[in-house]
This record gives sequence, structure tokens and C-alpha cells, in this order.
Amino acid sequence: MEEYQAMYKASLEDPEKFWGDMAREFYWKTPFEKVGPTYNFDRTKGDVSIRWFEGGATNLSYNCLDRNVEQGFGSKTAIYYECNDLDDGHAAYSYSDVLRMVCKLANALKAEGVQKGDRLSVYLPMIVELPASMLACARIGAVHSVVFGGFSAESLAGRLQDAQSSLVITADAVMRGAKPVQLKAITDKACEIAAKDGFNVQRVVCVARLKDTPRAGQAQHGWVSGRDVWYSDFVAAQAEECECEWMDSEAPLFMLYTSGSTGKPKGVLHTTGGYMLGAFATTKYTFDYHPEDVYFCTADCGWITGHSYVTYGPMLNTATQVLFEGVPTHPDVDRFWKVCEKYKVSIFYTAPTAIRALMKSGDAPVTRNDLSSLRLLGTVGEPINPEAWRWYYRVVGGGHCAIADTYWQTETGSHLITPLVGAMDCKPGSAVLPFFGGPGGGGTVYGDHKRFEETYFSQFNGCYFTGDGCKRDKDGFYWLTGRMDDVINVSGHRIGTAEVESALVAHAKVAEAAVVGFPHDIKGEGIWCYVTLNEGEAYEDSLKADLKKQVREVIGAFAMPDEIHWAPGLPKTRSGKIMRRVLRKLALPDYETQDLGDTSTLADPSVVDVLKSYHPRKK
Ligand code: WTA
Repeated sequence: MEEYQAMYKASLEDPEKFWGDMAREFYWKTPFEKVGPTYNFDRTKGDVSIRWFEGGATNLSYNCLDRNVEQGFGSKTAIYYECNDLDDGHAAYSYSDVLRMVCKLANALKAEGVQKGDRLSVYLPMIVELPASMLACARIGAVHSVVFGGFSAESLAGRLQDAQSSLVITADAVMRGAKPVQLKAITDKACEIAAKDGFNVQRVVCVARLKDTPRAGQAQHGWVSGRDVWYSDFVAAQAEECECEWMDSEAPLFMLYTSGSTGKPKGVLHTTGGYMLGAFATTKYTFDYHPEDVYFCTADCGWITGHSYVTYGPMLNTATQVLFEGVPTHPDVDRFWKVCEKYKVSIFYTAPTAIRALMKSGDAPVTRNDLSSLRLLGTVGEPINPEAWRWYYRVVGGGHCAIADTYWQTETGSHLITPLVGAMDCKPGSAVLPFFGGPGGGGTVYGDHKRFEETYFSQFNGCYFTGDGCKRDKDGFYWLTGRMDDVINVSGHRIGTAEVESALVAHAKVAEAAVVGFPHDIKGEGIWCYVTLNEGEAYEDSLKADLKKQVREVIGAFAMPDEIHWAPGLPKTRSGKIMRRVLRKLALPDYETQDLGDTSTLADPSVVDVLKSYHPRKK
């Protein structure tokens, strides 16, 4: 604990030395002149900005790959790839293998005309080409925008357009559990939607994931000649070496879309030097990483966790990790534990929602596997309830593994609050103490710096606002209490209620919608939608399924509403503002006895009774 306190202090009081020494473990083509941070968080004093390692030039792909190979780790396994289906096998890729793959792809992208600063979209499943595509972009200075494979065509189209990304890397299709996900067909549709809006995707590079396998028949997609090319053909003629583009420390590395309380998802833009150190340091210290560890993070690279703790953090630490294509329940509910046993995983990092879901199947699926290699467990994405924490600790960790509950966000790029498990005792449900004060943190919203300033720097002058509520106990431990804005966290997926509302309103029969979160046993939060139909439309149960489908098509399956609650009227103030506080309470299991607070300012207080009379929970 004393060592943590000393390091924490040093990180804040002497960043030149603390972060400077750490940064010098990496290769800089041009050494930085100043560690920093040089920043302004006060909007009244000019543009909000933050700069780390000014004057330096480096490359993430170099530091994740070449540097490891040069230091003699070329034959060390970087990635164990575990397929969705047991009969589909597995593969191991060494650091040299990944470097060759990345160089070939980087050369192919250059041959295609992709230049430093261009944005490129990646819509892939969890196969090795996904981290490789990210690293190939980083190598040539192209900005990657990874779109989670669960997003719909419409969501993908919006992201392609916003990023002005004329090249997409995707796959024919992939099996997720027993079901195929038609990535190529969805990409085709996204390109059509974007084209209608005047944006043309020029090139679709398609990985043959199911083609030439026994499941080839599951992939159903078209082919646009001149635009589409198979990945293997795309890279075939390319050399296995590719010079890096040396990137200014503050040059953009990637953008990743995330939901806020208003409007369309924002492309959070991360830059090179600060992100690199943030991902490196947190992987090393939070997970107490040692060279002999086998690390397994179950997050998809489509989310920030997969960026920082699959692609970048582990490789910057020369780690050996498992990349898992499938789902925790296929072919059986013990798949995670089978994978842990098979690769002798020592560090395992997952989300509370997965723990809660697996907990339902009892202890046997866990304990029938040999998990003695596990040493450290991590969680991320949402608050973990003490009951799930204890089960994770006792059953998965066998009572001998520490748990790191890591609190952070897409915007921060790496852990903000997390225990350093060797140094401090944890309390179930608390993310404990701040990580060292240091680099990382998105520098802007792509194409909209004003929105960046307004979203994050307007609530508290001179401070960044995360959007989360929190308590601090007498020991200084932090307890995250959830979002304070209109963002909900469904199975660790961040969803803006406004996005779901606009998906619902896009339905021809819907006049208005208001969406709130409610506590859900497994998902953490569920999605509760109040829907007002157009004049003359009938409130029929059969329409509810349609509306759910609508949201699925506009956003993606993970945003499917749990409940549609007919609302012939919504509780509004006389100025027309929806009283969300009332709607949140009405979605609770004990809605009948909830104190709704002062409803006298409602334009029509009787709507509350009407909502109760239609209540979906009513027996
Ligand atoms: C929530 C995921 C409590 C929080 C890394 C945050 C958490 C949002 C935790 C970011 C945690 C994440 N305890 N809440 N350990 N981790 N959150 O951008 O509300 O997808 O603001 O990044 O998830 O979600 P995002």
C-alpha cells in the first residue's frame, strides 16, 4: 500500500520522471522534448486540450510488434485463437507471425492509396485479422474505426459516413454460438444506405472466415465487382516488411463511436503517445502482468476494452493472450472455463453481466474444469454487485485470486479507478482507488471539438466529467453508482436512451417515445420504452414485437427493448419537458408503491394513472 501511495504521488508530482522513464522503455523515432501533460480543461481560458510527450514521434505497431521481435520474442506466442466451434479448431500466432501479417496488410492498404490520416473502418469478428487490421492502420498512420460486429447496417452506415471511411475490412460471416452473423451482407446494406446519402465506399476487403470451411453454406452475401476483394487476394502480392510511418505523439491513432445522452454516437478520437502509455501501464500494473502469464480478456475489439486490453495493452507488454471468437454459452455454459483450462490462463478479464449469467448455471460447470492456473480476475463495464463478486471470487477464483474491478470509459482509453490487487485489500463492489495519474484520454470528438467541450467540460469548470455517480467511503475507496445522464448500461453495452427513442420514432405508427433503464438481474440494466402511437393507431400487443424488431434493425440486437409500455400520453411539464424521473420510477417492479415526488407541475397529472392502468407488470 505504501508503494502504491508513493507511486501515485510520484505520478502526479513528477510526471516528467515517472511517465518519462516509463515512456523511454519504448522506441521513439524522435525523442519527446517534454512529458507533459500540457493541458487546459477550463473552457473560459480557451480551447480544451491535452498533450502528452510533445515533440516525440513513435508508432504503436512498431512498439507492439517489431520491438518485441527485436528483443528476442519473435517466437513467443502473441495470440492463441480459439474458434467459436470446438470442431473448428484453434491456432497460435507468434509475434513474428503477427508482424508479417500486419506488414502485408499495411502494404496492401498503401498500394490501395490509403494515406496517413485517412479513416478506415473495420467490421470484423474476433479473429486474428481484427487486431492485425488495427495494427496495420497504426503502422501506416491511418485512423481505425472499429465497429462492433453486433451493430446493424444502419449503424454501420452512419459510422462509415461520419468517419468518411471509404474502405471497410469485414468478413463473409461468422458463427456466434449456433447462429451465423452475416457481416458481409450487413456491410453491403450499409454501403447502400450510405450511397443513398451520397457517400460511396470504394473498397470492401472481405476475410473468408466461413468460405472453404464445412460451414461455408451459412454465409450468404453478394459481391460487387470492382469494389469487393477477398482479404487473401488483397494481401497476396505484398512484401512481409513494411516501414512504419512515424507518428507525432499527438497524431490520431483511432476513433471509436460511443453513446452519450444526446444525439448520434460520437467518434471519440485517441492520439498516439498518451494512449500508448495509458494502455501499457494499466495492463502492467492493474493485472500485475508477468512474462509467464497467459492472459484472456473476453471483450470484443469492437469496444474500447478490446482496443486497450486485447490489441494494444497486452502486445505492448509482450503478453501471450487468448483471442476468443465465440460466446460463453456455446457449446455449453462452461466454455470460458474450458478455454481457461486449455491455455492455462492466469489472468482472466470479463464483464459482470457474463458473471451473473454464468452464475445462474451453478458451480458445477466451473468446478468440473481445472482452473488452478488462474491468479488474477478482472471485471469491467458496469458496477459489479457484491453477490456476483463473491461468486466470481469463491467459485471461479477458487478463493485464491484477487479481483480487479476496473472503472473507466471509452473516453479515458484506460483504467481510471482500479485496485492494484497485490497492494490493497478489496471490498466487493468497490473499484477501490485511482490508478496513477497519467496519460490516455481521448483528445476530441471526431469532427466536433465543440461537442467534446460541451459534453465533458461544461459541468465542472476545469474538470472532466465522466457522467457517472460515485460514493467515497471513509477509507477513500470509490463506489461507482451508475450513470447520471440518459445513458444506460445494458450488459456492459453503453446505449443512449435518445438513440433508442429515435429508432422507435422512425416507425411509421409511432408518434413519440421515451426510454429509461430499469434494474435487470443479468443485464445490469434493461431497456424500458414508453411509446405513444399516432392518432388512430390501435395499441395492439402484436405491434410490440414489430417495435422491438425496429430497434434491432436500426441499432443492433444488443439494444433490443425488454419492455414496450403503451403510453397514450407521456408525463410532461407545462413547458413540454418529459419528466423522466417519473418514468424511471414507473418502470420499477414496485412501481405501485413508488413515491413519484412532486407531480403537480405536470401539464396533465392523470397520465400517470393511465400509464399505471396499462402497466406491463400488472398481474
Ligand atoms: C460504466 C467501458 C462501474 C460507467 C470500459 C462508464 C463501470 C461506462 C465500470 C463506460 C466499473 C465501466 N464499475 N461502472 N468497473 N466500468 N463502467 O465507454 O458507467 O463502454 O461511464 O467503457 O461504463 O462504458 P464504455
